[in-house]
Amino acid sequence: MRVLTGIQSTGIPHLGNLFGAIQPAIAMSRAGNNDAFLFIANLHSFTKVRDPEQLRENTYAVAAAWLACGLDPERVTFYRQSDVPEVAELTWYLACLTPYPMLANAHSFKDAMAKGVVPNAGIFNYPVLMAADILLYDTDLVPVGKDQKQHLEITRDIANAFNRAYGEDTFVVPEARIDAQLMTIPGTDGRKMSKSYDNTLNIFLPERELKKQVMGIVTDSKALEDPKDPENDNVFNLFRLVATAAETETMRSNYLRGGYGYGHAKKELLGVLMERFAGERQKFQTLMADRTELDKQLAIGADKARQVAATTMHRVRAKGGYGRMG
Ligand code: ADP
Ligand code: TRP
Repeated sequence: MRVLTGIQSTGIPHLGNLFGAIQPAIAMSRAGNNDAFLFIANLHSFTKVRDPEQLRENTYAVAAAWLACGLDPERVTFYRQSDVPEVAELTWYLACLTPYPMLANAHSFKDAMAKGVVPNAGIFNYPVLMAADILLYDTDLVPVGKDQKQHLEITRDIANAFNRAYGEDTFVVPEARIDAQLMTIPGTDGRKMSKSYDNTLNIFLPERELKKQVMGIVTDSKALEDPKDPENDNVFNLFRLVATAAETETMRSNYLRGGYGYGHAKKELLGVLMERFAGERQKFQTLMADRTELDKQLAIGADKARQVAATTMHRVRAKGGYGRMG
């Protein structure tokens, strides 16, 4: 079964991305005989990121984070979206069979409109590029978050329209897999952890900066000697996600007993983060310091992806009336 998903390259992944996206995707890529395709959607990021250095850095940071967390590039086809230019060609063919109102109705476009800034046509075409990402590789299954459900419906609609026009054997019509069970990791202010809320914990940052994030976790103003309610405290709720069961129980009784301040709890949280993710942090640093190695790893994936892409494009061009027959 071919399983494919894309990751936006919008910054260094945070703890929410790690638990909510990276770890589940890596587990899935190891399961059974799944043939996993995972790519960094840097062309999608181009709809909003204007600074070339930032776009390049973000792409490397995402690649390094996934590799540091155990993604095996020998097993998974791991590539940069822009390294397979066929995707842009396919986007055009698909766009020509996509009814304009379907894109005007997409949440991503409507949200951009609602912000009051005139969105670029890339934002409008975002779902078509996403459909091309998926259809180019004969994908069976696409694991995504709830927010991407509509994009998958659009992909299926476009694939079906194309198949009706050019033959049912043109595209595999993919299924979405939306995992409603995935937990939402809380941020340092108790809302969902998200880079747009500036409430993240970033295990790949240098210790000094991670410490600053941990020290910034919002708590109530109970005094050190007061007993505290662990269940409603952001430090405890983050600690329990990364600590062992025994460590969590010790901290719980410290809270209930009193004489244990939020400063103590934050220090312990930082300690556990540094210890538990020591290997990943080290690997991330090593990879970020060696861009040649990162490029090499991504090139292996791009070569594999381009072989599949070439076969699909040959088929699509022939059916559409372009290129050579046979
Ligand atoms: P952000 O909200 O920081 O912009 P993204 O939207 O780029 O994060 O999310 C990338 C992936 O990480 C998605 O699969 C998303 O479901 C997952 N993710 C992001 N934040 C969390 C969170 N707080 N808890 C669980 N998963 C998350
Ligand atoms: N739009 C997706 C997101 O924001 C990223 C993405 C791009 C993607 N192309 C994809 C996801 C193809 C799955 C399949 O998260």
